[in-house]
Amino acid sequence: MKLPDKICLASIFIVGMILFSQCSPYAGKSVLHIFFDGVPETDSTSLLSTDQGGIQADSLDYSKGILASVEPEGFIHYPYGERECASCHNEQALGTMIEPQPGLCYICHEDLAEQYNYLHGPVAGGYCSACHDPHKSEHEKLLRYTGEALCFYCHEAESVLQNEMHEGLDGMLCTDCHNPHGGEDKYIFQ
Ligand code: HEC
Ligand code: HEC
Ligand code: HEC
Ligand code: HEC
Ligand code: HEC
Repeated sequence: MKLPDKICLASIFIVGMILFSQCSPYAGKSVLHIFFDGVPETDSTSLLSTDQGGIQADSLDYSKGILASVEPEGFIHYPYGERECASCHNEQALGTMIEPQPGLCYICHEDLAEQYNYLHGPVAGGYCSACHDPHKSEHEKLLRYTGEALCFYCHEAESVLQNEMHEGLDGMLCTDCHNPHGGEDKYIFQ
């Protein structure tokens, strides 16, 4: 066989492997791992090392075609938009997570406990998704609600507004004074 034919056959073989890998994710990954050293093992946490600048653009996204299509609209959480469902969900049981929050979020995001002396209740408790939609949102920062509505989803408006500290706040946002994640002390000031 002439050399160009060999190259041609070899590329058909490789392309075939890649195509095959789309249907059989786990097999595909290990095959590709042999070809290119850059492809991580299927251990999902290893895909997501933050010191690689967050998440890796995974061209071998194995959830394509298996899961419902994602319509781009509003603000899309990067891994959701890339259909990297398995970076958060167990593939075999979509309803379950690979790890509970907040650890799930800290796979890719900075640990808020390292940034603040004192954490806001729901942050400490791992209720990130009470404020952020983990998939997409019509609001910036994937927030479920904006303005006071976000805070009054949990805090009783009446009691907060009765507090003399909150007199004459017209036009001010709760987050002008309070940090939604944490702060120096329990009042989580900005
Ligand atoms: C960044 C992590 C993350 C990614 C990526 C992700 N999810 Fe989720 N998903 C969650 C969390 C957290 C919940 C639970 C939501 C809650 O607390 O209300 C959830 C809930 C769900 C639910 C239950 C119904 C609902 O919407 O609450 C479905 C179905 C689902 N996800 C499908 C998907 C699919 C399909 C993909 C990929 C296209 C995906 N998820 C990607 C984190 C993620
Ligand atoms: C697989 C990695 C991964 C996981 C897990 C993950 N994120 Fe993200 N998230 C990203 C990336 C990548 C971005 C885009 C970062 C950027 O643009 O700087 C992002 C952005 C965000 C943003 C900012 C969106 C914006 O519009 O600026 C929020 C809020 C967020 N993530 C919340 C969460 C929460 C809450 C969880 C846990 C339920 C979570 N993330 C889990 C990868 C991840
Ligand atoms: C009480 C509601 C609330 C909770 C709970 C919460 N967040 Fe946020 N988060 C916010 C708000 C509000 C912003 C927007 C802050 C801003 O724009 O200054 C934000 C912004 C972010 C951003 C984007 C930061 C940036 O600078 O763009 C990330 C990432 C994030 N949150 C992750 C998390 C994670 C991870 C958790 C859980 C450990 C969490 N959040 C829990 C309200 C919340
Ligand atoms: C998902 C529910 C939830 C949301 C949404 C929420 N909080 Fe909280 N917040 C809590 C919990 C729980 C505590 C802890 C209460 C405790 O320890 O007594 C807390 C405590 C606080 C405290 C300290 C109060 C104290 O006496 O310890 C402040 C200030 C605060 N939140 C402000 C806000 C602001 C501002 C927002 C909107 C950006 C907000 N919260 C949204 C649940 C929430
Ligand atoms: C001008 C700054 C400022 C703004 C804006 C502000 N707060 Fe406060 N908040 C404070 C101060 C100061 C305290 C009291 C701290 C203390 O008692 O030492 C406080 C206390 C709190 C507390 C704990 C005491 C209580 O009343 O339960 C909560 C919860 C709280 N704020 C929520 C909110 C919410 C929700 C909003 C938006 C509607 C908001 N704050 C807007 C400054 C502010």
